[in-house]
Amino acid sequence: MAPILSGKRIMLGISGGIAAYKSVTLASRFTQANALVDVIMTHSAAKFVAPVTFQSITQRSVATDTFEFWHDAGRLRIGHVALAHAADLFIIAPATAHTIARLAHGLSDDLLSITALSYKGPMLLAPAMETNMWTHPATMRNVQALRDWGVDFIGPEEGRLASGEVGEGRVAEPEDIFEVACKVIGRGGPLDGLRVLITAGGTREPIDPVRFMGNHSTGKMGAALARAARDLGAETVLVHAPLSVHPPGGVSLMPVHTAQQMFGAVMEQLPRTDVLIGAAAVADYRPTRSSNQKLKKSPENQVITLERTPDILQEVGTRREEGGPGPRLVIGFAAETNDLEANALDKLKRKNLDLVVLNDVTAPDSGFAVDTNRVTLFERGGNREAWPLMSKDEVAQAILQRVVVRLGRLDWKGSQSRERDR
Ligand code: C5P
Repeated sequence: MAPILSGKRIMLGISGGIAAYKSVTLASRFTQANALVDVIMTHSAAKFVAPVTFQSITQRSVATDTFEFWHDAGRLRIGHVALAHAADLFIIAPATAHTIARLAHGLSDDLLSITALSYKGPMLLAPAMETNMWTHPATMRNVQALRDWGVDFIGPEEGRLASGEVGEGRVAEPEDIFEVACKVIGRGGPLDGLRVLITAGGTREPIDPVRFMGNHSTGKMGAALARAARDLGAETVLVHAPLSVHPPGGVSLMPVHTAQQMFGAVMEQLPRTDVLIGAAAVADYRPTRSSNQKLKKSPENQVITLERTPDILQEVGTRREEGGPGPRLVIGFAAETNDLEANALDKLKRKNLDLVVLNDVTAPDSGFAVDTNRVTLFERGGNREAWPLMSKDEVAQAILQRVVVRLGRLDWKGSQSRERDR
Protein backbone atom coordinates (compact mmCIF):
# COMPACT_ATOMS: atom_id res chain seq x y z
CA MET A 1 0.00 0.00 0.00
CA ALA A 2 1.02 3.54 -0.60
CA PRO A 3 -0.63 5.73 2.09
CA ILE A 4 0.81 8.75 0.34
CA LEU A 5 -1.91 8.27 -2.30
CA SER A 6 -4.84 7.70 0.01
CA GLY A 7 -7.50 10.34 -0.67
CA LYS A 8 -5.31 12.09 -3.24
CA ARG A 9 -6.85 13.25 -6.50
CA ILE A 10 -5.10 12.06 -9.62
CA MET A 11 -5.98 13.55 -12.97
CA LEU A 12 -5.13 10.86 -15.50
CA GLY A 13 -4.93 12.12 -19.05
CA ILE A 14 -4.86 9.56 -21.83
CA SER A 15 -3.81 10.50 -25.32
CA GLY A 16 -4.23 8.45 -28.44
CA GLY A 17 -1.78 5.62 -28.75
CA ILE A 18 -2.14 1.88 -28.49
CA ALA A 19 -0.33 2.11 -25.14
CA ALA A 20 -3.62 3.59 -23.82
CA TYR A 21 -4.63 0.04 -22.83
CA LYS A 22 -1.82 -0.04 -20.25
CA SER A 23 -3.35 2.96 -18.51
CA VAL A 24 -6.30 0.77 -17.50
CA THR A 25 -3.88 -1.09 -15.21
CA LEU A 26 -2.49 2.23 -14.04
CA ALA A 27 -5.95 3.60 -13.20
CA SER A 28 -6.71 0.39 -11.33
CA ARG A 29 -3.45 0.58 -9.37
CA PHE A 30 -4.23 4.14 -8.23
CA THR A 31 -7.80 3.25 -7.36
CA GLN A 32 -6.63 0.30 -5.25
CA ALA A 33 -4.30 2.68 -3.40
CA ASN A 34 -7.45 4.69 -2.46
CA ALA A 35 -6.67 7.59 -4.78
CA LEU A 36 -9.54 9.33 -6.58
CA VAL A 37 -8.80 9.02 -10.26
CA ASP A 38 -10.44 11.35 -12.78
CA VAL A 39 -9.78 10.38 -16.36
CA ILE A 40 -9.70 12.66 -19.37
CA MET A 41 -9.32 11.00 -22.75
CA THR A 42 -8.58 12.59 -26.08
CA HIS A 43 -10.94 11.60 -28.89
CA SER A 44 -8.29 9.38 -30.45
CA ALA A 45 -7.58 7.70 -27.09
CA ALA A 46 -11.27 6.81 -26.91
CA LYS A 47 -10.84 4.93 -30.21
CA PHE A 48 -8.25 2.64 -28.62
CA VAL A 49 -10.01 2.03 -25.28
CA ALA A 50 -13.66 2.73 -24.47
CA PRO A 51 -14.20 5.39 -21.77
CA VAL A 52 -16.55 2.99 -19.99
CA THR A 53 -13.55 0.78 -19.20
CA PHE A 54 -11.97 3.56 -17.15
CA GLN A 55 -15.31 4.49 -15.68
CA SER A 56 -15.79 0.95 -14.38
CA ILE A 57 -12.27 0.77 -12.96
CA THR A 58 -12.27 4.17 -11.25
CA GLN A 59 -15.99 4.30 -10.38
CA ARG A 60 -15.82 7.92 -11.46
CA SER A 61 -16.74 9.94 -14.51
CA VAL A 62 -14.53 9.93 -17.56
CA ALA A 63 -14.47 13.07 -19.66
CA THR A 64 -13.64 13.48 -23.32
CA ASP A 65 -15.60 16.56 -24.23
CA THR A 66 -14.90 20.18 -23.33
CA PHE A 67 -18.57 20.90 -22.83
CA GLU A 68 -19.38 17.93 -20.64
CA PHE A 69 -20.62 18.30 -17.08
CA TRP A 70 -18.47 16.82 -14.36
CA HIS A 71 -19.61 15.26 -11.10
CA ASP A 72 -17.66 16.54 -8.12
CA ALA A 73 -18.60 15.78 -4.52
CA GLY A 74 -22.24 15.41 -5.44
CA ARG A 75 -22.30 18.62 -7.48
CA LEU A 76 -22.41 19.06 -11.21
CA ARG A 77 -19.66 21.33 -12.42
CA ILE A 78 -18.61 22.35 -15.85
CA GLY A 79 -15.26 22.82 -17.35
CA HIS A 80 -11.61 22.40 -16.95
CA VAL A 81 -11.01 24.91 -14.19
CA ALA A 82 -12.73 22.90 -11.45
CA LEU A 83 -11.03 19.73 -12.66
CA ALA A 84 -7.59 21.26 -12.70
CA HIS A 85 -7.89 22.91 -9.32
CA ALA A 86 -8.86 19.71 -7.58
CA ALA A 87 -5.92 17.52 -8.65
CA ASP A 88 -2.86 16.69 -6.54
CA LEU A 89 -1.07 15.23 -9.55
CA PHE A 90 -1.69 15.36 -13.29
CA ILE A 91 -0.40 12.36 -15.20
CA ILE A 92 -0.57 11.92 -18.94
CA ALA A 93 0.04 8.31 -19.94
CA PRO A 94 0.54 7.63 -22.72
CA ALA A 95 1.67 11.08 -23.82
CA THR A 96 1.89 11.16 -27.61
CA ALA A 97 4.26 13.40 -29.56
CA HIS A 98 1.27 15.52 -30.50
CA THR A 99 0.07 15.98 -26.91
CA ILE A 100 3.61 16.83 -25.77
CA ALA A 101 3.86 19.37 -28.60
CA ARG A 102 0.51 20.93 -27.67
CA LEU A 103 1.53 21.26 -24.01
CA ALA A 104 4.91 22.74 -24.94
CA HIS A 105 3.23 25.36 -27.10
CA GLY A 106 0.38 26.17 -24.77
CA LEU A 107 -2.24 24.98 -27.25
CA SER A 108 -5.65 24.14 -25.86
CA ASP A 109 -7.85 22.61 -28.48
CA ASP A 110 -9.48 19.81 -26.50
CA LEU A 111 -10.42 19.00 -22.92
CA LEU A 112 -7.08 17.37 -22.07
CA SER A 113 -4.95 20.25 -23.32
CA ILE A 114 -7.25 22.91 -21.83
CA THR A 115 -7.17 21.20 -18.45
CA ALA A 116 -3.39 20.79 -18.59
CA LEU A 117 -2.93 24.45 -19.45
CA SER A 118 -5.01 25.65 -16.53
CA TYR A 119 -3.31 23.29 -14.06
CA LYS A 120 -0.52 24.55 -11.82
CA GLY A 121 0.44 21.51 -9.71
CA PRO A 122 2.92 18.69 -10.32
CA MET A 123 2.69 16.97 -13.68
CA LEU A 124 4.13 13.63 -14.84
CA LEU A 125 4.27 12.57 -18.48
CA ALA A 126 4.87 9.04 -19.78
CA PRO A 127 5.67 9.43 -23.48
CA ALA A 128 4.92 6.69 -26.01
CA MET A 129 5.71 6.92 -29.70
CA GLU A 130 7.83 5.52 -32.51
CA THR A 131 11.57 5.98 -32.03
CA ASN A 132 11.93 8.49 -34.88
CA MET A 133 9.18 10.65 -33.42
CA TRP A 134 10.79 10.54 -29.96
CA THR A 135 14.27 11.39 -31.22
CA HIS A 136 13.02 14.09 -33.62
CA PRO A 137 14.52 17.48 -32.70
CA ALA A 138 11.01 18.96 -32.47
CA THR A 139 9.97 16.43 -29.80
CA MET A 140 13.28 16.74 -27.96
CA ARG A 141 12.87 20.51 -27.87
CA ASN A 142 9.27 20.25 -26.64
CA VAL A 143 10.28 17.77 -23.92
CA GLN A 144 13.09 20.07 -22.80
CA ALA A 145 10.72 23.06 -22.65
CA LEU A 146 8.35 21.10 -20.43
CA ARG A 147 11.20 19.84 -18.24
CA ASP A 148 12.36 23.43 -17.83
CA TRP A 149 8.88 24.30 -16.54
CA GLY A 150 9.17 21.57 -13.92
CA VAL A 151 7.23 18.78 -15.66
CA ASP A 152 8.50 15.29 -14.76
CA PHE A 153 8.97 12.54 -17.32
CA ILE A 154 9.13 8.78 -16.99
CA GLY A 155 10.42 6.76 -19.94
CA PRO A 156 10.04 6.05 -22.72
CA GLU A 157 11.78 2.71 -22.61
CA GLU A 158 13.46 0.49 -25.17
CA GLY A 159 11.30 -2.30 -26.46
CA ARG A 160 8.91 -3.55 -29.08
CA LEU A 161 6.81 -0.73 -30.52
CA ALA A 162 3.37 -0.69 -32.15
CA SER A 163 4.99 -0.76 -35.60
CA GLY A 164 6.76 -4.03 -34.75
CA GLU A 165 10.12 -2.27 -34.65
CA VAL A 166 12.29 -2.42 -31.57
CA GLY A 167 13.60 0.84 -30.17
CA GLU A 168 13.16 3.65 -27.69
CA GLY A 169 9.58 4.83 -27.44
CA ARG A 170 7.69 2.23 -25.42
CA VAL A 171 5.61 3.65 -22.60
CA ALA A 172 6.94 3.00 -19.08
CA GLU A 173 5.29 0.09 -17.27
CA PRO A 174 2.23 1.01 -15.15
CA GLU A 175 3.96 -0.14 -11.95
CA ASP A 176 6.91 2.18 -12.62
CA ILE A 177 4.61 5.11 -13.43
CA PHE A 178 2.74 4.40 -10.18
CA GLU A 179 5.98 4.40 -8.20
CA VAL A 180 7.28 7.63 -9.69
CA ALA A 181 3.84 9.21 -9.09
CA CYS A 182 4.25 8.43 -5.37
CA LYS A 183 7.63 10.14 -5.42
CA VAL A 184 6.28 13.25 -7.16
CA ILE A 185 3.37 13.53 -4.71
CA GLY A 186 5.72 13.01 -1.75
CA ARG A 187 8.04 15.81 -2.83
CA GLY A 188 8.42 18.54 -0.23
CA GLY A 189 7.47 16.06 2.53
CA PRO A 190 9.10 15.87 5.98
CA LEU A 191 12.34 14.30 4.67
CA ASP A 192 12.67 16.89 1.91
CA GLY A 193 16.29 17.81 1.20
CA LEU A 194 17.72 14.77 3.04
CA ARG A 195 19.53 11.80 1.53
CA VAL A 196 18.49 8.44 2.88
CA LEU A 197 20.64 5.43 2.01
CA ILE A 198 19.23 1.93 2.46
CA THR A 199 20.98 -1.39 2.01
CA ALA A 200 18.84 -4.35 0.97
CA GLY A 201 18.91 -7.94 -0.22
CA GLY A 202 21.22 -10.83 0.54
CA THR A 203 24.81 -10.59 -0.66
CA ARG A 204 26.26 -13.39 -2.77
CA GLU A 205 29.81 -14.54 -2.19
CA PRO A 206 31.21 -16.43 -5.17
CA ILE A 207 32.61 -19.94 -4.81
CA ASP A 208 33.21 -20.39 -8.53
CA PRO A 209 31.66 -18.81 -11.68
CA VAL A 210 28.35 -20.66 -11.17
CA ARG A 211 28.01 -21.02 -7.38
CA PHE A 212 27.79 -18.66 -4.45
CA MET A 213 27.18 -18.54 -0.72
CA GLY A 214 23.97 -16.67 -0.04
CA ASN A 215 21.05 -16.34 2.34
CA HIS A 216 17.25 -16.24 2.28
CA SER A 217 16.86 -12.46 2.15
CA THR A 218 14.51 -11.26 -0.62
CA GLY A 219 15.03 -7.53 -0.12
CA LYS A 220 11.32 -6.95 0.64
CA MET A 221 11.98 -5.02 3.84
CA GLY A 222 14.70 -2.86 2.26
CA ALA A 223 12.54 -2.11 -0.80
CA ALA A 224 9.64 -1.14 1.50
CA LEU A 225 11.97 1.17 3.45
CA ALA A 226 13.15 2.81 0.23
CA ARG A 227 9.55 3.44 -0.86
CA ALA A 228 8.62 4.87 2.53
CA ALA A 229 11.65 7.23 2.53
CA ARG A 230 10.90 8.31 -1.05
CA ASP A 231 7.24 9.01 -0.24
CA LEU A 232 8.31 11.31 2.60
CA GLY A 233 10.30 13.41 0.16
CA ALA A 234 13.80 12.01 0.78
CA GLU A 235 16.34 11.65 -1.98
CA THR A 236 16.64 7.89 -1.64
CA VAL A 237 19.51 5.62 -2.60
CA LEU A 238 19.10 1.84 -2.48
CA VAL A 239 22.33 -0.14 -2.45
CA HIS A 240 21.05 -3.61 -3.11
CA ALA A 241 22.27 -7.14 -3.55
CA PRO A 242 20.09 -9.24 -5.94
CA LEU A 243 16.40 -8.71 -5.05
CA SER A 244 13.51 -11.10 -5.58
CA VAL A 245 11.03 -8.23 -5.64
CA HIS A 246 10.40 -5.44 -8.15
CA PRO A 247 12.95 -2.71 -7.30
CA PRO A 248 11.24 0.49 -6.17
CA GLY A 249 10.91 3.29 -8.72
CA GLY A 250 11.86 6.89 -8.08
CA VAL A 251 14.95 5.93 -6.07
CA SER A 252 18.59 5.70 -7.18
CA LEU A 253 19.51 2.05 -7.47
CA MET A 254 23.07 0.87 -6.90
CA PRO A 255 23.15 -2.88 -7.60
CA VAL A 256 25.96 -4.94 -6.05
CA HIS A 257 26.59 -8.64 -5.46
CA THR A 258 29.12 -9.14 -2.69
CA ALA A 259 29.59 -7.74 0.82
CA GLN A 260 32.80 -6.09 -0.38
CA GLN A 261 30.98 -4.33 -3.22
CA MET A 262 28.20 -3.22 -0.86
CA PHE A 263 30.83 -1.91 1.56
CA GLY A 264 32.46 0.09 -1.27
CA ALA A 265 29.15 1.55 -2.48
CA VAL A 266 28.04 2.59 1.03
CA MET A 267 31.42 4.16 1.89
CA GLU A 268 31.40 6.09 -1.36
CA GLN A 269 27.92 7.50 -0.57
CA LEU A 270 28.55 8.07 3.15
CA PRO A 271 29.74 11.70 3.08
CA ARG A 272 26.48 12.73 1.36
CA THR A 273 24.19 10.54 3.50
CA ASP A 274 21.93 11.95 6.24
CA VAL A 275 20.25 8.70 7.27
CA LEU A 276 21.61 5.19 6.79
CA ILE A 277 19.42 2.12 7.23
CA GLY A 278 21.17 -1.24 6.98
CA ALA A 279 18.45 -3.73 6.07
CA ALA A 280 20.68 -5.97 3.92
CA ALA A 281 21.57 -9.46 5.00
CA VAL A 282 25.29 -9.07 4.48
CA ALA A 283 27.42 -12.21 4.49
CA ASP A 284 29.77 -12.31 7.46
CA TYR A 285 32.09 -14.75 5.69
CA ARG A 286 33.19 -15.37 2.12
CA PRO A 287 35.27 -18.12 0.52
CA THR A 288 38.94 -17.27 0.90
CA ARG A 289 39.34 -17.77 -2.81
CA SER A 290 36.84 -18.17 -5.58
CA SER A 291 37.81 -20.41 -8.46
CA ASN A 292 37.95 -18.97 -11.99
CA GLN A 293 36.63 -22.25 -13.31
CA LYS A 294 33.66 -24.33 -12.29
CA LEU A 295 34.71 -26.77 -9.56
CA LYS A 296 34.46 -30.33 -10.81
CA LYS A 297 33.04 -33.30 -9.00
CA SER A 298 35.72 -35.49 -7.45
CA PRO A 299 35.65 -38.53 -5.18
CA GLU A 300 37.11 -36.51 -2.29
CA ASN A 301 35.18 -34.13 -0.06
CA GLN A 302 35.68 -30.46 -0.80
CA VAL A 303 36.57 -28.00 1.94
CA ILE A 304 35.86 -24.33 1.45
CA THR A 305 37.79 -22.08 3.78
CA LEU A 306 36.15 -18.81 4.74
CA GLU A 307 37.34 -15.37 5.73
CA ARG A 308 35.54 -12.41 7.29
CA THR A 309 33.90 -9.78 5.12
CA PRO A 310 33.98 -6.11 6.10
CA ASP A 311 31.17 -5.13 8.48
CA ILE A 312 29.59 -2.07 6.91
CA LEU A 313 27.66 -0.70 9.89
CA GLN A 314 30.56 -1.44 12.23
CA GLU A 315 32.83 0.67 10.04
CA VAL A 316 30.25 3.49 9.90
CA GLY A 317 29.94 3.30 13.71
CA THR A 318 33.72 3.49 14.18
CA ARG A 319 33.97 6.49 11.86
CA ARG A 320 31.18 8.24 13.77
CA GLU A 321 32.93 7.54 17.06
CA GLU A 322 36.11 9.06 15.70
CA GLY A 323 34.13 12.19 14.85
CA GLY A 324 34.42 11.74 11.08
CA PRO A 325 31.68 12.92 8.75
CA GLY A 326 28.80 10.51 8.93
CA PRO A 327 25.04 10.21 8.81
CA ARG A 328 22.96 11.92 11.47
CA LEU A 329 21.06 8.72 12.04
CA VAL A 330 22.13 5.09 11.59
CA ILE A 331 19.65 2.25 11.89
CA GLY A 332 20.53 -1.43 11.84
CA PHE A 333 18.52 -4.63 11.65
CA ALA A 334 19.03 -7.67 13.80
CA ALA A 335 17.74 -10.87 12.24
CA GLU A 336 18.14 -13.33 15.06
CA THR A 337 17.23 -16.92 15.89
CA ASN A 338 18.22 -17.00 19.59
CA ASP A 339 19.08 -14.67 22.49
CA LEU A 340 17.12 -12.06 20.56
CA GLU A 341 17.25 -9.16 22.95
CA ALA A 342 20.84 -9.64 24.08
CA ASN A 343 22.02 -9.81 20.48
CA ALA A 344 20.06 -6.70 19.49
CA LEU A 345 21.41 -4.68 22.42
CA ASP A 346 24.93 -5.86 21.70
CA LYS A 347 24.56 -4.69 18.09
CA LEU A 348 23.22 -1.29 19.14
CA LYS A 349 26.27 -0.68 21.29
CA ARG A 350 28.98 -2.36 19.25
CA LYS A 351 27.98 -0.75 15.94
CA ASN A 352 27.27 2.61 17.58
CA LEU A 353 23.73 2.67 16.14
CA ASP A 354 20.85 5.00 16.99
CA LEU A 355 18.27 2.29 16.60
CA VAL A 356 18.13 -1.46 16.07
CA VAL A 357 15.13 -3.21 14.58
CA LEU A 358 14.99 -6.77 15.87
CA ASN A 359 13.07 -9.50 14.11
CA ASP A 360 12.80 -13.14 14.99
CA VAL A 361 13.53 -14.88 11.72
CA THR A 362 12.35 -18.26 13.03
CA ALA A 363 8.73 -17.02 13.42
CA PRO A 364 6.63 -18.06 10.39
CA ASP A 365 5.02 -14.62 10.00
CA SER A 366 8.21 -12.62 10.43
CA GLY A 367 11.58 -12.25 8.72
CA PHE A 368 12.64 -13.70 5.36
CA ALA A 369 10.41 -13.91 2.29
CA VAL A 370 7.07 -13.17 3.99
CA ASP A 371 5.09 -9.93 3.61
CA THR A 372 4.74 -9.34 7.33
CA ASN A 373 7.14 -8.57 10.13
CA ARG A 374 6.94 -8.51 13.92
CA VAL A 375 9.69 -6.27 15.22
CA THR A 376 10.98 -4.79 18.44
CA LEU A 377 12.80 -1.47 18.42
CA PHE A 378 15.78 -0.74 20.64
CA GLU A 379 16.81 2.89 20.68
CA ARG A 380 20.00 4.44 21.95
CA GLY A 381 19.08 5.86 25.33
CA GLY A 382 17.24 2.74 26.42
CA ASN A 383 13.81 3.05 24.81
CA ARG A 384 12.37 -0.35 23.83
CA GLU A 385 9.14 -0.90 21.88
CA ALA A 386 7.54 -4.12 20.69
CA TRP A 387 5.37 -3.49 17.65
CA PRO A 388 2.47 -5.76 16.66
CA LEU A 389 2.49 -7.87 13.52
CA MET A 390 2.36 -5.53 10.53
CA SER A 391 2.98 -5.69 6.82
CA LYS A 392 6.56 -4.87 5.83
CA ASP A 393 5.25 -1.68 4.20
CA GLU A 394 3.68 -0.63 7.48
CA VAL A 395 6.82 -1.48 9.45
CA ALA A 396 8.85 0.56 6.96
CA GLN A 397 6.48 3.53 7.20
CA ALA A 398 6.57 3.40 11.01
CA ILE A 399 10.38 3.27 11.03
CA LEU A 400 10.57 6.26 8.70
CA GLN A 401 8.07 8.11 10.90
CA ARG A 402 10.51 7.50 13.77
CA VAL A 403 13.25 9.00 11.58
CA VAL A 404 11.06 12.08 11.00
CA VAL A 405 10.56 12.47 14.77
CA ARG A 406 14.23 11.96 15.62
CA LEU A 407 15.32 14.53 13.04
CA GLY A 408 12.81 17.05 14.42
CA ARG A 409 10.89 17.17 11.15
CA LEU A 410 7.39 16.48 12.51
CA ASP A 411 6.13 19.98 11.75
CA TRP A 412 7.92 20.22 8.43
CA LYS A 413 6.05 22.43 6.02
CA GLY A 414 8.20 21.68 2.98
CA SER A 415 10.60 23.96 1.21
CA GLN A 416 9.24 23.48 -2.28
CA SER A 417 6.18 25.11 -3.68
CA ARG A 418 3.61 22.63 -5.00
CA GLU A 419 3.18 24.87 -7.99
CA ARG A 420 5.39 24.47 -10.96
CA ASP A 421 7.59 27.39 -11.86
CA ARG A 422 6.08 29.20 -14.79
O1 C5P B 1 26.17 -8.20 13.44
P1 C5P B 1 25.09 -8.52 12.44
O2 C5P B 1 25.62 -8.87 11.10
O3 C5P B 1 24.13 -9.54 12.93
O4 C5P B 1 24.27 -7.13 12.31
C1 C5P B 1 23.22 -6.95 11.44
C2 C5P B 1 23.17 -5.53 10.96
O5 C5P B 1 24.44 -5.14 10.46
C3 C5P B 1 22.22 -5.36 9.77
O6 C5P B 1 21.69 -4.06 9.83
C4 C5P B 1 23.13 -5.56 8.57
O7 C5P B 1 22.64 -4.91 7.41
C5 C5P B 1 24.43 -4.94 9.05
N1 C5P B 1 25.65 -5.57 8.53
C6 C5P B 1 26.53 -4.81 7.81
N2 C5P B 1 27.69 -5.38 7.34
C7 C5P B 1 27.96 -6.68 7.57
C8 C5P B 1 27.08 -7.46 8.29
C9 C5P B 1 25.91 -6.87 8.75
O8 C5P B 1 26.28 -3.63 7.59
N3 C5P B 1 29.07 -7.20 7.07
